[in-house]
Amino acid sequence: TKKIGILTSGGDCPGLNAVIRAVVKASYLKGWTVYGIPYGTDGFIDIANGKYQPEDLILTGHSYDLPGMLKGLDVLQFLSGSVLGSLSKGHPEEEHNRIAILQGYERLGLEALIVVGGDGSLDIIYDLAQAGNWNIIAIPKTIDNDVPYTDYSVGFRTAVEIVTQALYDLTFTAASHERVMLVQVMGRDAGHLALHAGIAGGADIILIPELTPYLTPETINGCCCQLANLRSSGRQFALVVISEGVKNQQQQKEKYIAEYLSHCISQQIQVLREAGEKAFCDPIDVDLRVTVLGHLQRSHTPVALDRLLATVFGIKAVELIAEQRYDRIVVWREGQVHSTPLKSIINVLKQCHHEKRCAYPVDPSGFMIQTARS
Ligand code: F6P
Repeated sequence: TKKIGILTSGGDCPGLNAVIRAVVKASYLKGWTVYGIPYGTDGFIDIANGKYQPEDLILTGHSYDLPGMLKGLDVLQFLSGSVLGSLSKGHPEEEHNRIAILQGYERLGLEALIVVGGDGSLDIIYDLAQAGNWNIIAIPKTIDNDVPYTDYSVGFRTAVEIVTQALYDLTFTAASHERVMLVQVMGRDAGHLALHAGIAGGADIILIPELTPYLTPETINGCCCQLANLRSSGRQFALVVISEGVKNQQQQKEKYIAEYLSHCISQQIQVLREAGEKAFCDPIDVDLRVTVLGHLQRSHTPVALDRLLATVFGIKAVELIAEQRYDRIVVWREGQVHSTPLKSIINVLKQCHHEKRCAYPVDPSGFMIQTARS
């Protein structure tokens, strides 16, 4: 019998609980004990300082039962967020925290640790694992889908659904008021979410960092031309999706890049109007509205494909531990679950962090997408 641990780290996303459930169930069948580490690596600090006793952290398949007629229903895979928490306040790069984390891990006497993490947290935990000689298995999760070597990370496809639905909903208020809706979508430095949802939600313009790293005057003019084309074809409203990774004209990150774009488009329309550009001489102003979808994109019951991915990843992680094939990350490629050495991904992540670029950008050519200028 083995003792293993599981933690969720970095930003939460739909499907984390489905991973936890799969790991607990697969381990139960093997007669193993699973320790749920609360709040990422912070949990180890609190194990070291005695806030948590190891026996209180054991996850059993029966912890989440409901009363009454629903007794026995295991709802965990339906719930968003993470029952373990995903907050990390104790920065591992500070020596005293690092020591406490390593002590906490030692105290549990784990054979292996399953880390459910994304681009921002996997490399930090990998370094800890090296220092503490931990056996780890990583499971990729992020709505940004920016973990390399895997076609999909847990949470991404639910976020695509949420954003697609939001675009659909916004269409009707946009149409009713003859407005241009500018919608800011998450994704950090990657455009996966904006591109997938933008296409599925019927956006008229989609701006992603892979094609538009920053807003140039040409891009803004391109947006105005596209809006003019829509008008001349009789359409009085439009949906514009902008990924948060697109930078401003000074090539800086902008927290409210959609608001910034709105301002740039308004200014450019004014310029075009003063130049007598027919499309914008309409007495009715181009009425722009901004929506920042924000954290709603991370909180929804996971869609079926995320529940499936989470379940398959969780089971695969347990199998890898059973085979003692450690320091690997489970990935989804060509319709199948695989695993690959964690080190190769970590090297890519570290290099990309160093060069401040995205480790796994979306490839728009796969979608036959044209740029605004082409
Ligand atoms: O990485 C997931 C993500 O939701 C990004 O898309 C977004 O930029 C970021 O996290 C938001 O982070 P926070 O929850 O710390 O505001």
